[in-house]
Amino acid sequence: MKTVKRPAETEAPIHDLLRHRWSPRAFDSRPVEPEKLRAVFEAARWAASSFNAQPWFFIVATKDDPENFKRVLDCLVEFNQGWAKGAPVVALSVARMKFEHNGEPNRHAFHDVGQAAANLALEATNLGLQIHQMAGILPEKAREIFGIPEGYEAVAGIALGYPGDADSLPDKLRERELAPRERKPVSSFVFTGHWGKPSPIVARNR
Ligand SMILES: Cc1cc2nc3c(=O)[nH]c(=O)nc-3n(C[C@H](O)[C@H](O)[C@H](O)COP(=O)(O)O)c2cc1C
Repeated sequence: MKTVKRPAETEAPIHDLLRHRWSPRAFDSRPVEPEKLRAVFEAARWAASSFNAQPWFFIVATKDDPENFKRVLDCLVEFNQGWAKGAPVVALSVARMKFEHNGEPNRHAFHDVGQAAANLALEATNLGLQIHQMAGILPEKAREIFGIPEGYEAVAGIALGYPGDADSLPDKLRERELAPRERKPVSSFVFTGHWGKPSPIVARNR
Protein backbone atom coordinates (compact mmCIF):
# COMPACT_ATOMS: atom_id res chain seq x y z
CA MET A 1 0.00 0.00 0.00
CA LYS A 2 1.19 3.48 -0.83
CA THR A 3 2.15 5.36 2.33
CA VAL A 4 1.59 9.08 2.24
CA LYS A 5 4.05 11.03 4.35
CA ARG A 6 4.29 14.77 4.79
CA PRO A 7 6.83 15.35 7.58
CA ALA A 8 7.03 18.84 9.04
CA GLU A 9 10.12 20.93 8.34
CA THR A 10 10.98 22.11 11.81
CA GLU A 11 13.10 24.95 13.27
CA ALA A 12 14.27 22.60 16.01
CA PRO A 13 14.29 18.81 16.20
CA ILE A 14 11.01 17.34 17.52
CA HIS A 15 9.64 13.84 18.06
CA ASP A 16 8.98 11.90 14.89
CA LEU A 17 5.34 11.37 15.82
CA LEU A 18 4.80 15.13 15.86
CA ARG A 19 6.62 15.59 12.58
CA HIS A 20 4.59 12.92 10.86
CA ARG A 21 1.11 13.88 12.06
CA TRP A 22 -0.84 15.66 9.36
CA SER A 23 -4.43 16.07 8.23
CA PRO A 24 -5.25 14.19 5.04
CA ARG A 25 -8.45 14.56 3.04
CA ALA A 26 -7.76 11.49 0.92
CA PHE A 27 -8.20 8.27 2.88
CA ASP A 28 -7.61 4.68 1.91
CA SER A 29 -10.79 2.60 1.89
CA ARG A 30 -9.09 -0.01 4.14
CA PRO A 31 -11.05 -0.35 7.39
CA VAL A 32 -9.31 0.48 10.66
CA GLU A 33 -8.59 -2.53 12.84
CA PRO A 34 -10.80 -2.58 15.99
CA GLU A 35 -7.76 -2.78 18.31
CA LYS A 36 -6.31 0.34 16.69
CA LEU A 37 -9.61 2.16 17.17
CA ARG A 38 -9.59 1.16 20.82
CA ALA A 39 -6.01 2.41 21.14
CA VAL A 40 -6.72 5.87 19.76
CA PHE A 41 -9.58 6.40 22.20
CA GLU A 42 -7.43 5.02 25.03
CA ALA A 43 -4.86 7.68 24.12
CA ALA A 44 -7.58 10.34 24.32
CA ARG A 45 -8.52 9.01 27.75
CA TRP A 46 -5.07 9.78 29.13
CA ALA A 47 -5.03 13.46 28.22
CA ALA A 48 -4.55 15.96 31.02
CA SER A 49 -7.57 18.06 31.97
CA SER A 50 -8.52 20.83 34.34
CA PHE A 51 -9.55 19.24 37.70
CA ASN A 52 -9.12 15.89 35.90
CA ALA A 53 -12.70 16.51 34.77
CA GLN A 54 -12.16 14.65 31.47
CA PRO A 55 -14.84 16.71 29.73
CA TRP A 56 -14.41 14.88 26.41
CA PHE A 57 -16.88 12.61 24.64
CA PHE A 58 -16.77 11.09 21.16
CA ILE A 59 -19.60 9.87 18.94
CA VAL A 60 -17.97 7.51 16.47
CA ALA A 61 -19.09 5.40 13.51
CA THR A 62 -17.33 3.12 11.07
CA LYS A 63 -18.30 2.68 7.44
CA ASP A 64 -19.44 -0.89 8.06
CA ASP A 65 -22.25 0.64 10.13
CA PRO A 66 -23.71 2.72 7.26
CA GLU A 67 -26.63 4.09 9.23
CA ASN A 68 -24.54 5.62 12.01
CA PHE A 69 -21.79 6.63 9.57
CA LYS A 70 -24.35 8.69 7.65
CA ARG A 71 -25.72 10.22 10.84
CA VAL A 72 -22.25 11.54 11.72
CA LEU A 73 -21.67 12.72 8.12
CA ASP A 74 -24.98 14.58 8.24
CA CYS A 75 -23.54 16.68 11.08
CA LEU A 76 -20.73 18.01 8.85
CA VAL A 77 -20.96 21.02 6.55
CA GLU A 78 -21.26 20.11 2.88
CA PHE A 79 -17.61 20.86 2.05
CA ASN A 80 -16.38 18.51 4.75
CA GLN A 81 -18.93 15.82 3.88
CA GLY A 82 -17.52 15.87 0.34
CA TRP A 83 -14.14 14.45 1.34
CA ALA A 84 -14.82 12.95 4.80
CA LYS A 85 -17.22 10.41 3.33
CA GLY A 86 -14.13 8.66 1.93
CA ALA A 87 -12.73 7.99 5.42
CA PRO A 88 -13.46 4.62 7.03
CA VAL A 89 -14.21 6.20 10.43
CA VAL A 90 -15.91 9.48 11.33
CA ALA A 91 -16.55 10.98 14.74
CA LEU A 92 -17.70 14.05 16.60
CA SER A 93 -16.06 15.35 19.73
CA VAL A 94 -18.31 16.75 22.43
CA ALA A 95 -17.48 18.81 25.51
CA ARG A 96 -19.19 18.81 28.89
CA MET A 97 -19.35 22.53 29.62
CA LYS A 98 -19.82 22.37 33.42
CA PHE A 99 -17.83 20.57 36.09
CA GLU A 100 -19.52 17.46 37.46
CA HIS A 101 -18.22 18.13 40.98
CA ASN A 102 -19.76 21.60 41.47
CA GLY A 103 -21.82 22.50 38.41
CA GLU A 104 -19.64 25.55 37.70
CA PRO A 105 -18.78 26.45 34.09
CA ASN A 106 -15.59 24.76 32.90
CA ARG A 107 -13.70 27.49 31.08
CA HIS A 108 -11.24 24.91 29.80
CA ALA A 109 -13.72 22.37 28.46
CA PHE A 110 -12.92 22.97 24.76
CA HIS A 111 -9.22 23.23 25.60
CA ASP A 112 -9.29 19.80 27.22
CA VAL A 113 -11.32 18.22 24.42
CA GLY A 114 -8.58 19.59 22.16
CA GLN A 115 -5.94 17.93 24.30
CA ALA A 116 -7.76 14.61 24.07
CA ALA A 117 -8.01 15.05 20.31
CA ALA A 118 -4.28 15.79 20.11
CA ASN A 119 -3.53 12.58 22.03
CA LEU A 120 -5.84 10.70 19.69
CA ALA A 121 -4.11 12.21 16.67
CA LEU A 122 -0.64 11.22 17.85
CA GLU A 123 -1.65 7.66 18.71
CA ALA A 124 -3.24 7.45 15.27
CA THR A 125 0.03 8.59 13.69
CA ASN A 126 1.89 6.02 15.77
CA LEU A 127 -0.35 3.31 14.28
CA GLY A 128 0.08 4.46 10.67
CA LEU A 129 -3.28 6.24 10.70
CA GLN A 130 -4.09 9.95 10.50
CA ILE A 131 -7.01 12.08 11.59
CA HIS A 132 -8.47 15.21 10.05
CA GLN A 133 -10.37 17.43 12.45
CA MET A 134 -13.19 19.70 11.35
CA ALA A 135 -14.61 22.90 12.76
CA GLY A 136 -17.12 22.76 9.92
CA ILE A 137 -19.87 20.88 11.71
CA LEU A 138 -23.53 21.58 12.46
CA PRO A 139 -23.58 21.44 16.28
CA GLU A 140 -27.35 21.86 16.67
CA LYS A 141 -28.01 19.15 14.10
CA ALA A 142 -25.65 16.89 16.05
CA ARG A 143 -27.59 17.67 19.23
CA GLU A 144 -30.83 16.71 17.51
CA ILE A 145 -29.59 13.58 15.75
CA PHE A 146 -27.64 12.11 18.67
CA GLY A 147 -29.59 13.52 21.59
CA ILE A 148 -26.64 15.50 22.97
CA PRO A 149 -27.96 16.88 26.27
CA GLU A 150 -28.04 20.51 27.39
CA GLY A 151 -24.74 21.50 28.98
CA TYR A 152 -22.77 19.58 26.36
CA GLU A 153 -21.53 21.05 23.07
CA ALA A 154 -20.38 19.36 19.88
CA VAL A 155 -16.83 20.62 19.33
CA ALA A 156 -15.37 19.18 16.14
CA GLY A 157 -15.69 16.50 13.52
CA ILE A 158 -12.95 13.91 13.05
CA ALA A 159 -12.21 11.76 10.00
CA LEU A 160 -9.87 8.87 10.72
CA GLY A 161 -8.16 6.27 8.59
CA TYR A 162 -5.09 5.33 6.61
CA PRO A 163 -4.03 8.19 4.36
CA GLY A 164 -4.90 7.49 0.74
CA ASP A 165 -4.16 8.57 -2.79
CA ALA A 166 -4.35 12.34 -3.37
CA ASP A 167 -5.40 11.56 -6.96
CA SER A 168 -8.75 10.43 -5.61
CA LEU A 169 -9.55 14.06 -4.70
CA PRO A 170 -10.97 16.80 -6.95
CA ASP A 171 -8.25 19.07 -8.44
CA LYS A 172 -8.38 21.88 -5.87
CA LEU A 173 -8.24 19.53 -2.90
CA ARG A 174 -5.49 17.46 -4.49
CA GLU A 175 -3.37 20.60 -4.81
CA ARG A 176 -3.93 21.41 -1.13
CA GLU A 177 -3.19 17.81 -0.17
CA LEU A 178 0.20 17.95 -1.87
CA ALA A 179 1.15 21.57 -1.11
CA PRO A 180 4.02 22.18 1.33
CA ARG A 181 2.89 22.27 4.95
CA GLU A 182 3.27 25.74 6.41
CA ARG A 183 3.63 27.26 9.84
CA LYS A 184 4.37 30.70 11.28
CA PRO A 185 7.82 30.99 12.87
CA VAL A 186 8.07 30.05 16.56
CA SER A 187 9.25 33.60 17.37
CA SER A 188 5.88 34.97 16.20
CA PHE A 189 4.04 33.30 19.10
CA VAL A 190 6.54 32.88 21.94
CA PHE A 191 7.14 36.10 23.84
CA THR A 192 9.28 37.18 26.77
CA GLY A 193 8.86 40.37 28.79
CA HIS A 194 6.01 41.93 26.84
CA TRP A 195 3.22 40.91 24.52
CA GLY A 196 4.56 40.76 20.99
CA LYS A 197 8.24 40.74 22.00
CA PRO A 198 9.77 37.60 20.49
CA SER A 199 11.44 35.53 23.16
CA PRO A 200 15.22 35.19 22.86
CA ILE A 201 14.68 31.60 24.02
CA VAL A 202 13.39 30.67 20.58
CA ALA A 203 15.61 32.95 18.49
CA ARG A 204 16.91 30.96 15.54
CA ASN A 205 20.58 31.89 15.70
CA ARG A 206 21.17 31.56 19.40
C1 LIG B 1 -10.16 22.32 15.34
C2 LIG B 1 -9.81 22.14 13.88
C3 LIG B 1 -10.77 22.43 12.93
C4 LIG B 1 -10.51 22.21 11.57
N1 LIG B 1 -11.52 22.39 10.67
C5 LIG B 1 -11.36 21.95 9.40
C6 LIG B 1 -12.49 21.89 8.53
O1 LIG B 1 -13.65 22.19 8.89
N2 LIG B 1 -12.28 21.45 7.27
C7 LIG B 1 -11.04 21.07 6.82
O2 LIG B 1 -10.94 20.66 5.67
N3 LIG B 1 -9.95 21.09 7.64
C8 LIG B 1 -10.09 21.51 8.93
N4 LIG B 1 -9.02 21.48 9.81
C9 LIG B 1 -7.69 21.05 9.37
C10 LIG B 1 -6.69 22.20 9.34
O3 LIG B 1 -6.92 22.99 8.20
C11 LIG B 1 -5.26 21.63 9.38
O4 LIG B 1 -5.05 21.02 10.63
C12 LIG B 1 -4.23 22.72 9.16
O5 LIG B 1 -4.30 23.21 7.85
C13 LIG B 1 -2.81 22.25 9.43
O6 LIG B 1 -2.52 21.14 8.65
P1 LIG B 1 -1.91 19.79 9.30
O7 LIG B 1 -2.93 19.32 10.32
O8 LIG B 1 -1.80 18.83 8.13
O9 LIG B 1 -0.62 20.12 9.92
C14 LIG B 1 -9.25 21.73 11.16
C15 LIG B 1 -8.28 21.46 12.15
C16 LIG B 1 -8.56 21.64 13.47
C17 LIG B 1 -7.51 21.29 14.51
